[in-house]
Amino acid sequence: MRLRRRVIQAGLVVVGLSLLAAPATAQSVNRAAIDELNAQLLYVALPLTLFVELTLVYVIYRFRNNDDPKPTVDDPALEVTWTAATGAILVFVGVSAFVVMANPYITPAAAETSADGGDAFTNDTEIDVLAYQWGWEFSYGEANITTEERLVLPADQNVTFRLQTTDVIHAIYIPQLGVKQDIFPGRTMTARTHATEPGEYRLYCAEMCGAGHSKMNATVVVKNQSAYDTWMENQTAAAG
Ligand code: CUA
Repeated sequence: MRLRRRVIQAGLVVVGLSLLAAPATAQSVNRAAIDELNAQLLYVALPLTLFVELTLVYVIYRFRNNDDPKPTVDDPALEVTWTAATGAILVFVGVSAFVVMANPYITPAAAETSADGGDAFTNDTEIDVLAYQWGWEFSYGEANITTEERLVLPADQNVTFRLQTTDVIHAIYIPQLGVKQDIFPGRTMTARTHATEPGEYRLYCAEMCGAGHSKMNATVVVKNQSAYDTWMENQTAAAG
């Protein structure tokens, strides 16, 4: 009995800790949408998992000494109920995921083609990203600035990335900002974000692209507007 109580207590501690370990506030609009979807699905999945597992344990315990098992009888009402319930859950998961996928920060290409001829993000800060074996180059078109291995972003602003590669397929991946996009040779891909927290983040290549793939990283620095403007001026002055 004491052992059983210990096991139950340990189980409760694990559940409690996993709830406390919920993600901290998101660092971008993208990341917030993804985290929200994750939590939403978790709140549906967790009670279902508990229900199924507890039923299973109960049935094993309840019928452990059943020497005379009877065949299952048809129960149309029950079968209709669990089929409909499963269908409703799948529709909920599908619709929730679709709403996040259709978010113009998560899939900007779809928003752009449906808007008036690609003019959807004219107020965004536009940054050209060039991926190559093995590194990253970031160009700020209007300011005529190019940086290597260091991507500086303004906080609280929409940013559109125009992504190109000089050689093979690469993928830009900034986990903390919820940005991930494959970059194909001969095409210009689009990614978008809206960072909310100034700070330093990591950027990775997320597509196996040869011997230097694991070193194809960069630092992302999100600066508030005045720090960003100062950085711009310094870069322009240094270039001139
Ligand atoms: Cu570029 Cu992996």
